[in-house]
Amino acid sequence: MTNPKMEANTLLDPFVPAMAAWALVSGVSTGLFEAVANGKHRSDDIAKHLDLDSDGIKRLLDILSCLGYIKSRDGDYDLTEVSRNTLLENSSHKLKNWVRFCRIQLQALEQLESTLTGGNCVDLQALMEKPDGLYIHQLAMAETAAPAADWIAENIPVQKGSRLMLDIGGSHGIYSSAISRMNPQMRAEVLELPNVIETARNVARDLGTDDLVTHIEGDILKTELRNDYDLVFMSNLIHHIPEELLIRVIRQIYNHINPGGTIAIWDFSEAEGEPELVSSAFSLFFYMTSKARCYSLEEIEQLLSDAGFAHFSAIRPPAPSPHALYIARRP
Ligand SMILES: C[S@@+](CC[C@H](N)C(=O)[O-])C[C@H]1O[C@@H](n2cnc3c(N)ncnc32)[C@H](O)[C@@H]1O
Repeated sequence: MTNPKMEANTLLDPFVPAMAAWALVSGVSTGLFEAVANGKHRSDDIAKHLDLDSDGIKRLLDILSCLGYIKSRDGDYDLTEVSRNTLLENSSHKLKNWVRFCRIQLQALEQLESTLTGGNCVDLQALMEKPDGLYIHQLAMAETAAPAADWIAENIPVQKGSRLMLDIGGSHGIYSSAISRMNPQMRAEVLELPNVIETARNVARDLGTDDLVTHIEGDILKTELRNDYDLVFMSNLIHHIPEELLIRVIRQIYNHINPGGTIAIWDFSEAEGEPELVSSAFSLFFYMTSKARCYSLEEIEQLLSDAGFAHFSAIRPPAPSPHALYIARRP
């Protein structure tokens, strides 16, 4: 990750971080990392194998080695631990689709200035409608979910006898299937947008989460929930919902949670005090794409308590993360 305490540098800041981002995206999209993993170690061989320009590939390898994704010795290139662990099809902590999704986010960033006028948001859905975009987005979210899912499932209190949970915007179903595995008596429904649900079902089938999770179609901003739940979970959703709409969403959830039931929210938390680079970057992106933002712990506690929820707690994951898990119960 880029050093969160970057020194200001007017000459380099408007150029080098963008070059770094595109180098990583291009390393994945060209298949460069897979080529190196498959034994191509000289830049000419890599370029020939990928049918790409060898001068360009040499320069791409050089910037990737400065960034820590490639190591080089006497003209031989190899993967570093981080690229081996994250950027290959069979990486243990795969983030390859997250990098592919970042291409779409980089395209959206070109529209930052026009969103600052207070006009329309960037239509991220439209950018994702391009070939495979929705599928890449869901896979990217699944990759970020995989390392956190079991910890989240362990830390959500569910009262005895709970039967049904709802995961709003639950996409790939990784979180709900982890929670269901932890509470085998409980079924999980994933609410997904009409234009996304088919892709989400396909991703869940590919990942094998579909045996524990049922996808239902709806938009939480428009759809009245039909069931009552023992647990309602939202992950990486509220940062897409402006505050005035979020108040309504949380009230609706309150009305559809059984007494004693739990609401659990996993999301970026706005840093307290001084702004912090990572959550500020995501917050601005969410503003551009949804006119929403990261919320602070205090704001989430207030929203939940105004809706009637009690016993609020916020838990931070063991590894450093801009996320927190917020929990409250309907009395
Ligand atoms: C950033 S993704 C998070 C996916 C998953 N919850 C996770 O954390 O990995 C947000 C998801 O919420 C869904 N979503 C966005 N707005 C929604 C709405 N109004 N109602 C239901 N789902 C929504 C999107 O389709 C997308 O799958």
